[in-house]
Amino acid sequence: MVLICPHCNKRHTVDEKKIPRNVKKARCKYCGQTFLLENFLNESGKKEDLQSKQAGPRKIAVSLSKGGVGKTTTSVNLAAGLALAGFKVLLVDTDTQGQDSFVLGVKPQFGLTELVTGELTPEETIIEARKRLWLLAGGKSLAGLKRMIDRKDFGSETTLTETLKPIENQYDFIIIDTSPGWDPITVNVLFYVTEVLTPVSLEVMTLQGLVEFLKALSAIQKYRRELALKYIVPTFQDNRVKKTAGILGKLEALYGPVLCKPIRYNTRLSEAPAHGQTIYEFAPGSPGAHDYRDLVRKVTGNSKLFT
Ligand SMILES: Nc1ncnc2c1ncn2[C@@H]1O[C@H](COP(=O)(O)OP(=O)(O)O)[C@@H](O)[C@H]1O
Ligand SMILES: [Mg+2]
Repeated sequence: MVLICPHCNKRHTVDEKKIPRNVKKARCKYCGQTFLLENFLNESGKKEDLQSKQAGPRKIAVSLSKGGVGKTTTSVNLAAGLALAGFKVLLVDTDTQGQDSFVLGVKPQFGLTELVTGELTPEETIIEARKRLWLLAGGKSLAGLKRMIDRKDFGSETTLTETLKPIENQYDFIIIDTSPGWDPITVNVLFYVTEVLTPVSLEVMTLQGLVEFLKALSAIQKYRRELALKYIVPTFQDNRVKKTAGILGKLEALYGPVLCKPIRYNTRLSEAPAHGQTIYEFAPGSPGAHDYRDLVRKVTGNSKLFT
């Protein structure tokens, strides 16, 4: 297995079987800092491991303060892929556009806003969009929620945490799709999750956007040590476009340890939402389905999934 030091991001290849059972911490031989091993052993992707070694679900925000980079496409297809792999998944849409419902072909009447305000219960707001895949929808009403969070005198950044904590243990994964901007809801999301997955479009040059986003993220990490940038996922990879390779090279040099395999540009991915289908339903043999299955394997750490 590969351990990535959370302090300096250097990789260590170790044989998991050789780690004695009672050893809880490891020291990074590059930076000398120690870190808890359990955070890494959880990643073997086996459900039993997830349940026995980690209390509660893995909570992943799909976030970058820029639109059109593949956040919604990645959130939905990662969540749906995890559900197909046997995990119970809650997908939370925190964008006023409410695209996740559209992409999944469902029309929930209520969602995150009503749950946070306490107007409605989880049973009334969370819908089962697919087998093992539940959706807490976003949409226009979130604008009012933003104002409500803004008006709070204290504790405004933990509003979402207070809402989701009581129900989170029903799930193995909570995947949160975020809006393009940096708003009070995004801050709430980053105070709730422990992992961040950032899609970076290779089509539109977003390295600058990424650097700015990571600065804002590190401001939150000062308060939340457990919040980690776990995955950078290049999207819209098109080898016919010359600059793609250049951007990928830069990403590799700067963020190698957390860089994932790119998601290729695939028109099937842009067509699927109009049919209300995930990529596995709409075009299971497409490059898009192939690439998102790879991402599911990466996130669970289980290379045997779907084989
Ligand atoms: N890999 C891809 N190849 C082709 N089209 C894509 C790909 N990923 C996303 N799209 C399309 O690009 C548009 C923007 O993607 P979206 O996931 O909505 O981005 P965001 O949520 O970051 O704004 C959507 O129309 C989507 O269907
Ligand atoms: Mg979106």
